[in-house]
Amino acid sequence: MTSFFAVPPLQEINSAIAHQNNVELYVLRLDLMHPFVNGNKWFKLKYNLEAAKAQNFNKLLTFGGAYSNHIYATAAVGNLFGLQTIGVIRGEKSLPLNPTLDFAVSQGMQLVYLDRQTYRQQQTAKLQEVLKNRFGDFFIIPEGGCNLHGVRGCTEIISNSAPLIKGDFDVICLACGTGTTLAGVTLSLHQKQHLIGFPVLKGGEFLKSAIETLLAEYLSSDLPMPGDKSISWELICDYHFGGYAKVTEELVTFQKEFGKLYQIPLDYIYTAKMFYGVMDLIQQKYFSNCRILLIHTGGLQGNLGIENRLID
Ligand SMILES: Cc1ncc(COP(=O)(O)O)c(C=O)c1O
Repeated sequence: MTSFFAVPPLQEINSAIAHQNNVELYVLRLDLMHPFVNGNKWFKLKYNLEAAKAQNFNKLLTFGGAYSNHIYATAAVGNLFGLQTIGVIRGEKSLPLNPTLDFAVSQGMQLVYLDRQTYRQQQTAKLQEVLKNRFGDFFIIPEGGCNLHGVRGCTEIISNSAPLIKGDFDVICLACGTGTTLAGVTLSLHQKQHLIGFPVLKGGEFLKSAIETLLAEYLSSDLPMPGDKSISWELICDYHFGGYAKVTEELVTFQKEFGKLYQIPLDYIYTAKMFYGVMDLIQQKYFSNCRILLIHTGGLQGNLGIENRLID
């Protein structure tokens, strides 16, 4: 399965402010693993796909918003591995399709739209029955790939790149939506390392208990446990820029300047917020004398949608 994917490069950020604080900064470029299935997406989908195949399903059904990176990647994975895909989209259909959904359809994904209230029932047997009556049997991947298969895949993010990661990093930083990626990466680290998640939603503090639940479920399962059990992690919730998919002029300027300076494209919804947070915290001397790894979790396809909105 993995032959489709390039080993993600590790790129140093030569930032003056980092050097002044004796901070070494590296980026793990998961965005370069595959043109369509990149970032944290392959890791979240990999074991879901394996489970679907082991249970003889040839159809995947998943949920997401109209600009969802997860919908985009699931459609592409289905196409790559010969599985049918159904995307259940939150909200009303709008034509022409936006670039995310247009791509999903081009990969063979069937789309179905649910109003927000019905969409919220995605985990209920009742709604799943309605969908089964319409589409036949399918393997369900929850919104955002947020389940133990998703966590398991994310435990491999660092080891997948281990040959490149010379020496250890003291601090690892990543952006959080559901917290699945953070849970997986936490489980793969060792005790001297510290993981920081930057929620991109307003009021991201609520994620703490969601992540603790995922971790507890994983630890009580018989899934492989590649790292130490009690890793220190924290959420820094001050860099949401107004909330999920909200952008400010300051964030847009940062994204553009960062891209020019370091040749690292960032997406506005996730990685730009996390990178902004890390650079700001270095400036505030929150970090010093350490090596930091920033995980670039991809999401660049979503910029088209945001850029169209900025032009409107
Ligand atoms: C580009 C990108 N980065 C980060 C995340 C956050 O991942 P998680 O939902 O596992 O916290 C997502 C959402 O899946 C994403 O699409």
